[in-house]
Amino acid sequence: MSATPSIEPTPPIGQPRPGAAAGSAVDRGALDCGALDGAAVEGRALDLHTLDLRALPDSFYANPYPTYAALRQHDPVHRMPDGSWLLTRHADLVAVYRDATTFSSDKRAEFAPKYGTDSPLYQHHTTSLVFNDPPLHTRVRKLIMGALTRRAIDDLRPGLEALVGRLLDRIEAHGGGCLVEDFASAIPVEIIGNLLGVPHPERGPLRQWSLDILGALEPALTPAQQARFETSVRDFSAYLQQLIAQRRQHPGDPAHDVLTRLIQGDSQAQPLSADELLHNCIFILNAGHETTTNLIGNALVCLTEWPEPQAWLRTQMAAQAHDSAAADALLATAVDEFLRFESSNQLGNRRALRDAVVGGVDLPAGSLVTLCIGAANRDPAVFEAPDELRLDRNPNPHLAFGLGIHQCAGLSLARLEGRVAVGAFLQRFARYRLTVPPTRGRRARFRGFLSAPFALE
Ligand code: HEM
Repeated sequence: MSATPSIEPTPPIGQPRPGAAAGSAVDRGALDCGALDGAAVEGRALDLHTLDLRALPDSFYANPYPTYAALRQHDPVHRMPDGSWLLTRHADLVAVYRDATTFSSDKRAEFAPKYGTDSPLYQHHTTSLVFNDPPLHTRVRKLIMGALTRRAIDDLRPGLEALVGRLLDRIEAHGGGCLVEDFASAIPVEIIGNLLGVPHPERGPLRQWSLDILGALEPALTPAQQARFETSVRDFSAYLQQLIAQRRQHPGDPAHDVLTRLIQGDSQAQPLSADELLHNCIFILNAGHETTTNLIGNALVCLTEWPEPQAWLRTQMAAQAHDSAAADALLATAVDEFLRFESSNQLGNRRALRDAVVGGVDLPAGSLVTLCIGAANRDPAVFEAPDELRLDRNPNPHLAFGLGIHQCAGLSLARLEGRVAVGAFLQRFARYRLTVPPTRGRRARFRGFLSAPFALE
């Protein structure tokens, strides 16, 4: 298994790279970020000359923000060792997201050498809507969006509140637990399971399949990981084929049931092929899983590290206790700040189909571009005091859900889950604390914790 195809070799450190705008080349190595952007970023940036997303040290996973700040300030259109480009400025990400004609989401060229074209991972990822351009993308997205209307999402709320209530009862009975295992991860699996009508007793393996299949998108994989992740695609496919066959015989309500909508299609559009149906179901089940788990887990860990904003939020919630619309709006603003501050999805990718200029730098046709959402969401050109958690930040034009034609199809659902979970947790428990430092997932693309043990006080 090889890495992404090389476009052009990286020039030796200190020499200008072709196409780099004057003054944009890296001129410093490891940087103490105390002074960067005038922001309070603690910790040190990695050496930008040798930065490689395929080989990152633990310090990066613990705190990538000093490195992001160094990139944004000194080399916002950064040439990576494999010849691809890493973008960190908000304005540059917006420009790329908005130009889907130049910047393609089709990953066949990138995934063929990474997985091998006969690999189930290749088959899966190159068939899902997120890694396709129109027209396949448009057909699938239209079907999904028809089942994620505002009304359909509002209808999910009572079941979501009941589920969160049960999880909190169990935590209360034990005096604590794990924020991820016992709370954050237990919510999306049920919500997404309901959306596709996966029977309750069959939901057990969904989370691991999802972690594996999305884990395969990390910049580097060991052969053992690749083999395990491929088994997950095979097992997930076998399971879904049987679920799809059952649903064909006994259709659900297409206004609510995404699987029935995808099976029945749209009278005006070409129906999905068996493979398109299968792989897009897997994608939807995965897309809403780890991302939302990390939103809830990151938010609750973050609040333990930011006592003043936590106290402020609690006071405001108490003041709005008798006005459910105002309480919901308060939590909506807070959830968007959690999404900005610790974005669950830190990286996105595009490929230039023709020569393009981004941030004043020439990118030749064929360039692979990594969009660093985590860095753009801390860009001081857009966000005042970007390294502070400000739960009343409004407006908050973060890019946690991307932008443009591929903007997250589940963003309203994710926001609802975030509001209900974080709101109910804070309302139920006046005080909680982490009992040991939480364990990070050690993933560059998906930022979150594997475990975060806590106790009620
Ligand atoms: C906090 C939670 C979530 C985050 C941070 C998140 C983030 C994202 C991002 C950044 C993209 C754009 C990818 C790109 O442009 O390359 C995306 C796409 C997508 N997300 Fe989410 N997502 C979340 C939750 C969900 C949920 C709950 C669902 C379930 C329905 C979902 C379904 C999708 C789908 C179907 C796409 C593909 C859209 C397209 O290609 O048109 N996501 N998500």
